[in-house]
Amino acid sequence: MQEKIIDENKQGSPLVMEPKQGNSKKLFIESYGCQMNFSDSEIVASILAHQGYDTTQKLEEADLVLVNTCSIRDKAEQTVRKRLEQYNAVKKINPNMKVGVLGCMAERLKSKFLEEEKIVDMVVGPDAYKDLPNLLQEVDEGREAVNVILSKDETYGDVSPVRLGGNGVTAFVSITRGCDNMCTFCVVPFTRGRERSRDPQSIIQEVNDLAENGYKEVTLLGQNVDSYLWYGGGLKKDFKTASEMQKATATHFAQLLELVALAQPKMRIRFSTSNPQDMTEDVLHTMAKYNNICNYIHLPVQSGSTRILKEMNRQHTREEYMQLIDTVRKILPDCGISQDLIAGFPTETEADHQDTLSLMEYVKYDFGFMFMYSERPGTLAARKLEDDIPEETKKRRLQEIINLQQKHSAYRTRQFVGKTVEVLIEKESKKSEAHWSGRNPQNTVVVFPKEAYQPGDFVMVKINDCTSTTLIGEAVGYSKNL
Ligand code: SAH
Ligand code: F3S
Repeated sequence: MQEKIIDENKQGSPLVMEPKQGNSKKLFIESYGCQMNFSDSEIVASILAHQGYDTTQKLEEADLVLVNTCSIRDKAEQTVRKRLEQYNAVKKINPNMKVGVLGCMAERLKSKFLEEEKIVDMVVGPDAYKDLPNLLQEVDEGREAVNVILSKDETYGDVSPVRLGGNGVTAFVSITRGCDNMCTFCVVPFTRGRERSRDPQSIIQEVNDLAENGYKEVTLLGQNVDSYLWYGGGLKKDFKTASEMQKATATHFAQLLELVALAQPKMRIRFSTSNPQDMTEDVLHTMAKYNNICNYIHLPVQSGSTRILKEMNRQHTREEYMQLIDTVRKILPDCGISQDLIAGFPTETEADHQDTLSLMEYVKYDFGFMFMYSERPGTLAARKLEDDIPEETKKRRLQEIINLQQKHSAYRTRQFVGKTVEVLIEKESKKSEAHWSGRNPQNTVVVFPKEAYQPGDFVMVKINDCTSTTLIGEAVGYSKNL
């Protein structure tokens, strides 16, 4: 997906750093993969604004092309490789154009990238973006430019992101980097390094800046937000050896959530992603206590079979996950819940697959992100387990999972028909110029006739109809809640 770049001046945001006068070079940056990558690209754009780079949407006029890459599945990597071929065609017309690869593929392939893809001038891992000015100089001087060093404490907490391609209403704020979980299928701990948390003060500062600039919703981002832990900086794993003082004053996720909710009571707060093993009841109570924290949890389960969960090194059983769902429903009866699921993990039997379907039946998720298992080089699963489920079987199981999810999504959206829900207007509906599009707190998309309302308004919408993904209604006035 290509990022749409908002005219920075129109946005009028002090978060936007003015390019150096008379030295305006053009940066074309695009991102693939998770929300964290999109958020990281905003950090990169900010660092390069200091170097005299202005963003452009036109590939042909770029002096520097950066692609922020994803390694999560083989398909994601293939997409980037195809994109590099397209850059190559443009480089033939504009030979001075430099190309840099950022993100997880950069980290995974390191300098091999320079050999494999001749078009690439620069390879920069997720913790090395502050080194971009030096790396650009290396490129200018005709040297190889590679920095894939992973950091113990880099959180970019001191960089104010340049907001790219947003709607001016919703924004991402990263709160942790890296992941310590080592799920056996997952490449993220290798590409993004060990888990570290960002200083709560810099998080609040960023949220306050966003509010001042008219933003109405923030999503706190991390691979595993519930394991957020600030004790003065450094890796989460080193907390064990922290001083008594550091331990006593540490900030946990529920506390951070509360700080953010209190700092901006007129803003909606969301967060992603929650890992079932780390989600605690106090987070749910904090959600219940503040009505500006949206009742929505993305709670990936990956499989409904305890045996497969164990093979995946997920730290919970099927039953524990179901208990957590019960607790969520008890504390937050109207909470939206979504999933990630993997079909065809090594050794998955038909019975394991049925366990996944029956777990889905139990939860009836609002929506989900469903994938076929893709073996990633270097992961524990790749080293220890044979990728033994035939492609056809993986495909069939995935399709069954998708079909069931569609049924449940339709069931969930139907529950809203006849009800009036609060919607934050984000943008024009893709399907109709006469309609606005936004989301309710449960994260379901709502469309309704525009009337005199504007993006950024909190509106009460009476739901008259639905599809399996969208609620359709009409506005009945402004929300008194936010
Ligand atoms: N905690 C992370 C998870 C990142 S990966 C987060 O913030 O969402 C996102 C999802 O991709 C995972 O939950 C998993 O369902 C899927 N995934 C990861 N590795 C995969 C692999 N090797 N094959 C298929 N799907 C995978
Ligand atoms: Fe990956 Fe598991 Fe972390 S899915 S990002 S290792 S929680």
